[in-house]
Amino acid sequence: MPAKTNYFGADESIFAEKSLLRVSHLPNEDRIIGRDDELHEIGNCMQDGLQGEAPTHAMIYGKTGTGKSLCSKFICEDLVDRAESNNVNAGYVYIDCTQQSTETKVCREMAHTLNDEETTDISVPYSGISTADYYRRLWDILDQLYNIVVVILDEIDRLDGDDILYQLSRARESGKMNDAHIGIIGISNKMRYEEKLNQRVKSSFSKRDIVFSPYDADQIREILENRSDAFYDDVLNEGVIPKVAAISAQEHGDARKAIDILRYAGEVVDNSDGETVTEEHVDMAQEREQEGRIRELIESSPNHSKFALHSIARLSLRSEKKRPEVEGSDVYEMYESICEERGSDPLTQRRLRDILDEMKFLGIINRERKSKGREGAYTTNRLLEDPEMVLRACSEM
Ligand SMILES: Nc1ncnc2c1ncn2[C@@H]1O[C@H](COP(=O)(O)OP(=O)(O)OP(=O)(O)O)[C@@H](O)[C@H]1O
Ligand SMILES: [Mg+2]
Repeated sequence: MPAKTNYFGADESIFAEKSLLRVSHLPNEDRIIGRDDELHEIGNCMQDGLQGEAPTHAMIYGKTGTGKSLCSKFICEDLVDRAESNNVNAGYVYIDCTQQSTETKVCREMAHTLNDEETTDISVPYSGISTADYYRRLWDILDQLYNIVVVILDEIDRLDGDDILYQLSRARESGKMNDAHIGIIGISNKMRYEEKLNQRVKSSFSKRDIVFSPYDADQIREILENRSDAFYDDVLNEGVIPKVAAISAQEHGDARKAIDILRYAGEVVDNSDGETVTEEHVDMAQEREQEGRIRELIESSPNHSKFALHSIARLSLRSEKKRPEVEGSDVYEMYESICEERGSDPLTQRRLRDILDEMKFLGIINRERKSKGREGAYTTNRLLEDPEMVLRACSEM
């Protein structure tokens, strides 16, 4: 009988434990690299919680992939364990504010996660009760079961409004709870997040700021080496991890992307039935990582942002230079013709400028004001990613 086609890739994998390279993998303490100071800072804020007293709130800032979520969860897990040995009931909830963005949802999620219905006899229905009711049940649950609770509000800048922060930071003071204390760990990669907060929230949510900086090459190398058990022995060529680390440190200092590149490099080899990962595979993996990132970003952008990016990519390809500067007026012209192709009405020049400013903020393009002497000024746009890749990603939409 002819062998049946295997659609799942090679049977013999070079991966021994691929899950070590998954983003969801939570490394234990000895695998958290280069974040001792930051862990101590968060620990210091939460310290009083160990005695069942009110912790200091913390706000963690830092670019993507710098270990903010990882370190926050780690400290909370540890806090719960250590508090228990002091006979203090501690708990924590991790809230991803991109998923739970409204006051009601956060409140419900907290009540739901922290509740133990058998003990409290309080139910937390999914729907059918008001926000005020969710709050009432939450305070009751906290009072009955805990001395202290820490709430991690990850990507806190994605919350709709700041009422929840106000409520959580004032719950005790306003007499809604009598026995439990709440500590808040807010996480954001927008340094200016606080400017948006309401004055009354600013004054009740007093906290310490902690900044996570991007990783350097040595730290990324160590993070990757600590996960090299993901591969069987001798699968990784000697230069592979240092290369991934060097590229990553130079481009972003993002541990997540570095781990992704290493995993992709392994997958390239696995899919071609190879046995060893070499530096060439790293190049291929890096391209795939970049493309994936751009694609994701483009996919989540509104249509007119896609058209704008498409315009700059097309114009860039017309030039001999690798990363040419293209003028705003040319971009607008190209943008209009792309809108026509796609059967969509173009936005005004002013709106397009806002879109381009946003892309600058996201790090996809660079924009620069230049003077034309007496004739005034103009703005140039320079694509920071490979135009062919951007074009591919845009035209598949
Ligand atoms: N110091 C570290 N040691 C080991 N692994 C790390 C370290 N820092 C980050 N990682 C790993 O890198 C990935 C990203 O880390 P994490 O999710 O904590 O980043 P983040 O700062 O929260 O990023 P984002 O702002 O995008 O949410 C995770 O898989 C995590 O396990
Ligand atoms: Mg995070």
